Amino acid sequence: MCGIVGYTGTEPAVDILIEGLQRLEYRGYDSAGVAVQVEDGLSIVRRTGKVGELARACEGLAPASTCGIGHTRWATHGTPSERNAHPQCSCLGDIALVHNGIIENFAELREQLAARGHQFASDTDTEVVAHLVEDAYEDDLLAAVRHAAHQLVGSYGLAVTCAQEPGRIVVTRQDSPIVLAHGKDGSYVASDIIAVIRASRDVVVLGDRQFASLDAQGIRYFDDNGEPIEPEFMHVDWDIDVAEKGGYPDFMLKEIHEQPRVVRDTLAGRMVRGVLKIDELGMSLEELQLVDRVCIIACGTSYHAGLVAKQLIESWARIPVTVEVASEFRYRNPIITPTTLVVAVSQSGETADTLAAISEARIKGGKVFGITNVIGSPVARESDGVIYTKANKEIAVASTKSFLGQVVSLTLLSMVLAQAKGKMTVAQTRLLFRELADTAEQIERILSDTTAIEEAAQACKDATSAFFIGRGMGSAISYEGALKLKEISYLHAEAYPAGEMKHGPIALLSEGFPVIAVATQSPVYGKVISNIRESRTRGALIVAVATEGDEEIIKHADHVIFVPKVRDAFSAITVSVPLQLFARAIAIARGCDVDHPRNLAKSVTVE
Ligand code: G6P
Repeated sequence: MCGIVGYTGTEPAVDILIEGLQRLEYRGYDSAGVAVQVEDGLSIVRRTGKVGELARACEGLAPASTCGIGHTRWATHGTPSERNAHPQCSCLGDIALVHNGIIENFAELREQLAARGHQFASDTDTEVVAHLVEDAYEDDLLAAVRHAAHQLVGSYGLAVTCAQEPGRIVVTRQDSPIVLAHGKDGSYVASDIIAVIRASRDVVVLGDRQFASLDAQGIRYFDDNGEPIEPEFMHVDWDIDVAEKGGYPDFMLKEIHEQPRVVRDTLAGRMVRGVLKIDELGMSLEELQLVDRVCIIACGTSYHAGLVAKQLIESWARIPVTVEVASEFRYRNPIITPTTLVVAVSQSGETADTLAAISEARIKGGKVFGITNVIGSPVARESDGVIYTKANKEIAVASTKSFLGQVVSLTLLSMVLAQAKGKMTVAQTRLLFRELADTAEQIERILSDTTAIEEAAQACKDATSAFFIGRGMGSAISYEGALKLKEISYLHAEAYPAGEMKHGPIALLSEGFPVIAVATQSPVYGKVISNIRESRTRGALIVAVATEGDEEIIKHADHVIFVPKVRDAFSAITVSVPLQLFARAIAIARGCDVDHPRNLAKSVTVE
């Protein structure tokens, strides 16, 4: 997750910037850098790796400088490297900026700027902004940043400094946080409250399309037209630990709440003038047309994202799909041919079993496509093409936002395959894309009222075992619901396709045994209701996840968690959110540490 810091005041800037970056370290990053104003321009230092590396490289740097900006980068465009690290610069090196977010129209802007003679030194979307500011700069940095911002499509938090305006930093934002504070020794800006409360606990959270101009004396605020505005101060009385979590009690809840952003970022830039684009696929249309089998390999939560994708690819593209646990795949001499598309799904991109499965697939001549959250990770390097899930660094061990990013990415891949196979028209693709984008808002609605989820969790918290059931897409998502619950609450949970209950699991049911049923509107809704009734007759306590407006379900369930109506294909996206919250609420009620479940590791790099 990228982090921005900036300082202008009376103290040595480098030390303050490094300290600020260290405060942002918990968010994860792959490179870092600073730009400080010096007598004859800007001095810029960037390093890959830890902030400690950058700190060592900055020893003795510009001790007299009292103004600068800094950044920790979690790569989204361009591999983690020194040239792609921030700050990024204009051609003349006199304008430097740091950026969080994604500039969706960067390719078009880059083309236009290159045609006007701008030279690019990195692969980042960020660099185009530096050149845009340079292009617009006359003698007023604020005016130039406003002019540049008006050309940007996407999300951004930006802090810009320029050699011609000593002691000045200009910032703006759109859908990416920027927080400011003024203290005794100067003005501070950061993307996270934690890096500015050193200055003051009275902070200003900049609004979308607002601008701020910082100097040692204070901070002035402007609207989109450049008119001065009065800031609204917010008093922060959280301790540092809570501040790191953005005010949430744990990282898991923070990450669950980031999911609308993950949907938006994963889709950003994918639909260009009505055409679905996955340039990173690394496969021509002809190659895609030849694919006659898809084999998805993954572990844990990523495997469950694969189960969701199987439903989508088979129903949309009509290509047979197998989903395989990576640790099994590698040892069972799987059938892979040159026309098999192997899709490796891994949040960390470094799970040993998944990597071994990739090399097995390659030996057998399969084309491997990776879906990962980490740029430049081994899975990305070993694959022929890759989609990055844009979840940003996930800290809680139990995966939530990464799962969602995987499901959205796999949905895009399914659409591309369906188009290539001639099974989905351009108009259908556009409609689906719009509905997929709408799930971001639908998740926001789910997150805005969690009362029913918490009540259901209270009713189940003392159980020793639980079943998750569903059919079709509901069955795929049940597996992830059960995994979340066992991972963080240590309550035994199993998932079954609802129709399987009567073939064994039903024997375990007794009075009050929780059965969590995914009963959203789908072609198999009626069948799921029958399975719920079978369980309820045997005393089960039914928690149903159902579609808003469904009156029928109330008759069959003890607790109903309603989710907004979406087409069945997208129900995994909406239903997974209440199931994550349900697992968390039970874990909290049982006194568990939800961020650090016992015996589990975030990434498993051994067999
Ligand atoms: C570990 C984690 C799980 C994760 C699995 C696969 O077991 O605890 O949350 O789903 O590894 O990880 P990957 O990084 O390959 O998705």
